[in-house]
Amino acid sequence: MKPLGRLRLGINIDHVATIRNARGGALPDPLRAALLAEAAGADGITAHLREDRRHIRDADVEALMAGLSVPLNFEFAATAEMQAIALHHKPHAVCLVPEKREERTTEGGLDVAGDAKRLAEFVAPLRDAGCRVSMFIGHEPCQIEASAKIGADVVELHTGHYCDLRSAGEDAAAAVELEALRKGASLAHSLGLEVHLGHGLDYETAADVATFPEVMELNIGHYLIGEALFRGLGPAIEEMRRRIDIARAAIA
Ligand code: PXP
Repeated sequence: MKPLGRLRLGINIDHVATIRNARGGALPDPLRAALLAEAAGADGITAHLREDRRHIRDADVEALMAGLSVPLNFEFAATAEMQAIALHHKPHAVCLVPEKREERTTEGGLDVAGDAKRLAEFVAPLRDAGCRVSMFIGHEPCQIEASAKIGADVVELHTGHYCDLRSAGEDAAAAVELEALRKGASLAHSLGLEVHLGHGLDYETAADVATFPEVMELNIGHYLIGEALFRGLGPAIEEMRRRIDIARAAIA
């Protein structure tokens, strides 16, 4: 299969806010980072408003909505508070993620199959408001099928486990996980869902998954914010763009 289109690169700026919040002041400014990411070729900006506001805050969402030229992909847990905030801002896209207070980062995918009725009711007003609705899930077929059934437009498959296996040098297990992600992407596409991937991606793992022809978007944050310390945010993003374009061209 030929790639469905140019792979979009979404840049997650949560950890610019993490650094800001470590000092309690206003700097570094996540909007400034987002505008720089735009200038470096980001196709969208992702921000996760967590219940505990540990990185992105309400005022950041407002500033991003007002200041961005590219679409905002607004991530949050499926709570009434977050739904109200999303319905107020009506961002281009919303991505529902599971959230646990004690976790360091989003550890797994959303259990759409186990919470289908509630999630179907939760996403309906967001879709009515014009938001593209994405579910952040694992690659299990039951979660992909459930996402299609509840009316999601998009699934974002969690690549964190694959990236962990790669960085631990567990190549055989990583190959199995990569194949499962590939099959998941293919199943989701066959059900009419747009396919995104994200979490834990670096230059190498992003290039690996960029070869899935059904994938339309990668969302990448932590690695690039870290890489920005050494080469600057713009060059770090440009290098990611270059690497995924090469990987994509190889299957075109
Ligand atoms: N996609 C989703 C749905 C996420 O929750 C996150 C991290 O919060 C990312 C992508 C980006 O992950 P990372 O910061 O590890 O690149």
